[in-house]
Formats: sequence, structure tokens, C-alpha cells
Amino acid sequence: MREVTLPGGNTTGAVLIGDVVHKRASPWTPAVHAVLRHLEDAGFDGAPRALGIDDQGREMLTYLRGETIGDREPWPEWASADSMLAHVGRWLRRLHDLTADFTPPAHERWFIGGTMRPGLVIGHQDAGPYNAVVDGDRLVGFYDWDTAGPSPREWDLAFSSIPWVPLASTRDGTPLRSHDLDERRRRLHLFLDAYGYDDDRSAFAVLVPQRARRQADVIRRTADAGDPASIALIPIADLLERSASDVEALPDGFWRR
Ligand SMILES: Nc1ncnc2c1ncn2[C@@H]1O[C@H](COP(=O)(O)OP(=O)(O)O)[C@@H](O)[C@H]1O
Ligand SMILES: [Mg+2]
Repeated sequence: MREVTLPGGNTTGAVLIGDVVHKRASPWTPAVHAVLRHLEDAGFDGAPRALGIDDQGREMLTYLRGETIGDREPWPEWASADSMLAHVGRWLRRLHDLTADFTPPAHERWFIGGTMRPGLVIGHQDAGPYNAVVDGDRLVGFYDWDTAGPSPREWDLAFSSIPWVPLASTRDGTPLRSHDLDERRRRLHLFLDAYGYDDDRSAFAVLVPQRARRQADVIRRTADAGDPASIALIPIADLLERSASDVEALPDGFWRR
């Protein structure tokens, strides 16, 4: 059957054969597929279903039908719509609640390292607009689960808030006006309200910069090891580091509802 290259994606790329997505597998694919099966068993339909491994060793996943960003620049309007931001908050809450009791397979291996233990959930860790599927103003779900793994809830929320709120700095370095900062503050709390985050939100003043820098470090480490996809992402690592410093400079009131 014909292989159709899917648009978007920075690393391994994915192809569609019939209605099945095939993508290069990695050492963490067994653990990730166990998560996807756990979500399927729980009736969660906001993630692809794991269909096993093909005869070339690629992972197979169901195709989530809907609209994706692909290679579009600038991002479509839904990427900054309030309703979508709230859907993302609710989606993350369901993911986290449903994986709090997840038991990983023996010898679990995750992209981000670590092991599952009580108090952690499975974070998607890359739930940005570029990995979302939408249908009108509805969120269908997220694909690209390679980076998923055991995490505190806040760590995954900190990641998603960067591209969705957004909390990233402007690409050209233009400082934000006070109106933009008010909007960001409003949208951060909309996102956390949709999640139902009731703990002290000032924790994110530290966590968001940490999460951004961790992401930048991963890009730089894999780029230094010669990975061409990561070398192409070096401008994103620069942007994440700048965003981390800019977020640290936000006033305390930004984090209060
Ligand atoms: N399960 C899926 N359902 C629908 N589209 C998908 C699915 N998996 C991947 N895609 C498409 O393939 C592209 C690349 O896949 P992705 O898993 O994001 O790869 P990468 O790790 O390279 O970012 C995505 O941008 C999306 O367009
Ligand atoms: Mg992707």
C-alpha cells in the first residue's frame, strides 16, 4: 500500500499507510504503548491507539482524524482561542487522573528517564499546538507520545503552558506590552482553572523557567550528539532560554488568580 508522508514533525517523521500511522520506534515505545493501552482501557479517546510494531520495526498507531498544524506558519487561529486552551487544560486533567494508577511494564524505559511511583502521573511532555488534532473548536487529542513519561502534574502543565498560553518570548525579541502581559496572565489562569488546579500557582514562576531550560538542554545535548533534527531545533533552544529569563522577570501578581 502507498506510504503518505504526514506533514509536520521534527524528529522521526511519520507516514500513513491506509488509515494506520507508522513511525520509527524507540527504546521507550514499549512503555509508551502500555500507556496508550491503559488509556484505551479507561475509555479515553483523546490519544491514538497502539497497534503494535510493523515488519520494519516501526510503531503503528491509529490515525486521529481532524485538522493539525502540520507545516503551517503562522499557526491557525484555534491555537490561540480561549475555548481550545480550556479544552487542553481539561484534556491534561483527564490524562493525569487516568494515569495516576498506571503500572508500567517491567524494565520501564522512558525518553525522559525516571520510573513510575506513587504521586506521579504520566505526562505527555510535548502537548503543544503542533501535536494537537482539532475538529472545529473541539480538541480531538494529541499524538506524538514519544516523550511521555512519569512526571509531577505541574511539570507537564508547565510545558504545555509555554506554547499555549503562551509564555514563550517573541521570536524577534520584541518586548511584550503591558496589554500582552495582562492577556497572558488571564490565559494562564483560564488554562489552570480548566485543569482544576487548586494549589498555589506561584510554584509555576519557578517551574516554567525550569521546564523551558530542561527542554533547551535536551535539544542541545542531542544536537551535540549529531542528531540533525535537534540541530535544526537550536533556534528553539535559544528561544526557550530567552523565554525562561523573561518568565523569571514577571511580577508575583502574574501567578495569582
Ligand atoms: N496518530 C496520529 N494521528 C494523526 N496524525 C498524526 C498521528 N501521528 C502523527 N501524525 C502526523 O504526523 C506528523 C509527525 O508525527 P509526530 O508524531 O508529531 O512526529 P515527530 O516526533 O517527528 O514530531 C504530525 O505532525 C501529524 O501531522
Ligand atoms: Mg510532533
